[in-house]
Amino acid sequence: MTDTHDPLHDDRGNNDASIVKPGGGGLHVADNSGTRPAPRLTDAFLVGEGMVGGYGRGPSILNGCTIAAEKGQIAVIVGPNGAGKSTAMKAVFGMLDLRQGSVRLNGEDITRLSPQARVAKGMAFVPQVRNIFASMTVEENLEMGAFLRRDDIRGTIEQIYDLFPILKAKRRQPAGELSGGQRQQVAVGRALMTQPSVLMLDEPTAGVSPIVMDELFDRIIEVARQGITILMVEQNARQALEIADRGYVLVQGGNAFTGTGKELLADPQVRKSFLGG
Ligand SMILES: Nc1ncnc2c1ncn2[C@@H]1O[C@H](COP(=O)(O)OP(=O)(O)OP(=O)(O)O)[C@@H](O)[C@H]1O
Ligand SMILES: [Mg+2]
Repeated sequence: MTDTHDPLHDDRGNNDASIVKPGGGGLHVADNSGTRPAPRLTDAFLVGEGMVGGYGRGPSILNGCTIAAEKGQIAVIVGPNGAGKSTAMKAVFGMLDLRQGSVRLNGEDITRLSPQARVAKGMAFVPQVRNIFASMTVEENLEMGAFLRRDDIRGTIEQIYDLFPILKAKRRQPAGELSGGQRQQVAVGRALMTQPSVLMLDEPTAGVSPIVMDELFDRIIEVARQGITILMVEQNARQALEIADRGYVLVQGGNAFTGTGKELLADPQVRKSFLGG
């Protein structure tokens, strides 16, 4: 299945050398013995490295996980419920204070920046829940996404309508009246309104049909082709890894497996434990 020639996807999933084990190319299996130095990922465009953190004074949910995404590439985080995938996204976006570790964007340490400051640096985030304003129209949602901009946003709105034509047709409708897949398009479109260099998506295909999922993934590939870095959490692990340049299997807040999407799809242990065989 993954070896099927597909002109749309065939440059995905196998075009970067392993950044975890340079030259190794294979999988990095988590080693909690503490004897192996944490991998250095200084050159990736977006890096959350050795992240440790939790909520308030509670226990650590992230236990040293490292997530990285190269410019214009798609990085996908998968893993069981409660593994800390959304928490890792919040940490990268600055919604969670790290107890250890760092976040870097284009070589700059942004660990201490607020989410708003990260938006100004080019990051955009579509959270897992409550990611649209249901009572506002589609177009008002897009306008809200541009809150930081002082220039003309018309061109960007038109670009988003080109990417998601259905949103143009429904631009005067309250976003809450749209189907699940269309609402996710609104959420992604709203995030793109700041013209980000990094687009972070937490389960963009949650609750949509397989056809709508495929379509959304195709649009996400299109966004990456424009040079935008994608960091995405996905419940549809198999399909997401098929479009992933890099995949991360997160378990209990740590890196269980890391590799190209193709490597993870081919790994017997990953298949057995996380992809249903
Ligand atoms: N706001 C919060 N306050 C306290 N604990 C939280 C909060 N959000 C999440 N947690 C806890 O952190 C752990 C990881 O949750 P998280 O939402 O990051 O997992 P996830 O991998 O995204 O799961 P899912 O696949 O269900 O979305 C869970 O034990 C969860 O109960
Ligand atoms: Mg989650």
